[in-house]
Amino acid sequence: MTPMTIRRASPADAAVLAPFAARCFEQAFGAQNDPEDLAAHLAKSFGVAQQTQELQHPDYVTLLALTAGDEPAGYAQLRRQPAPPCVTAARPAELRRFYVDGRWHGSGVAGQLMQATLAAAHQTLGAASLWLSVWTENPRAVAFYARHGFAIAGSADFWVGSDRQSDHIMVRSALVPLTA
Ligand SMILES: CC(C)(COP(=O)(O)OP(=O)(O)OC[C@H]1O[C@@H](n2cnc3c(N)ncnc32)[C@H](O)[C@@H]1OP(=O)(O)O)[C@@H](O)C(=O)NCCC(=O)NCCS
Repeated sequence: MTPMTIRRASPADAAVLAPFAARCFEQAFGAQNDPEDLAAHLAKSFGVAQQTQELQHPDYVTLLALTAGDEPAGYAQLRRQPAPPCVTAARPAELRRFYVDGRWHGSGVAGQLMQATLAAAHQTLGAASLWLSVWTENPRAVAFYARHGFAIAGSADFWVGSDRQSDHIMVRSALVPLTA
């Protein structure tokens, strides 16, 4: 297991987070998406200005996993956001983004980041459950979330540029005890 420092990101991290988040998205989904749709999505979601806004927003909590050399290895973003109707668990927050750089996949970093994310959802946002939306064609992520106590509760559309994709809504209905 590679030990990481995991801490809450602040607006000062936007210049590091924006290109890292774009790179993670492209790494994960670039090959399966039309280049124009991908470029439109990256520009809309991962600019420095957009990241700064999200890092300043009181309803967002972003966690960064950093290597001993202070390089980003992964990040997670929580949001206080009304849940879709299929989520019936108490006091839900959204796990909006959860990404680990490819070079750290299978290393245990994702598990460490998930534990920190569950704790932050409970302690910082006062949530009692978490929901997320994950592409149905992302079996690695679906398996990872299932191992960490999330179950499929419904489905939703997700737009990458002009391309409509089908997502699972997954829910973890208890955050405490903080074990997977
Ligand atoms: C999702 C993610 C955070 C998981 O981290 P990870 O380090 O890869 O996770 P792990 O290796 O601990 O676990 C992945 C699980 O998927 C399994 N797996 C690996 N490749 C797989 C595949 N092609 N199909 C199905 N399952 C697969 C692994 O065996 C493991 O399951 P197990 O623990 O039951 O054996 C990471 O892969 C990632 O950042 N992916 C890209 C971004 C992403 O998809 N984020 C989610 C957006 S909603």
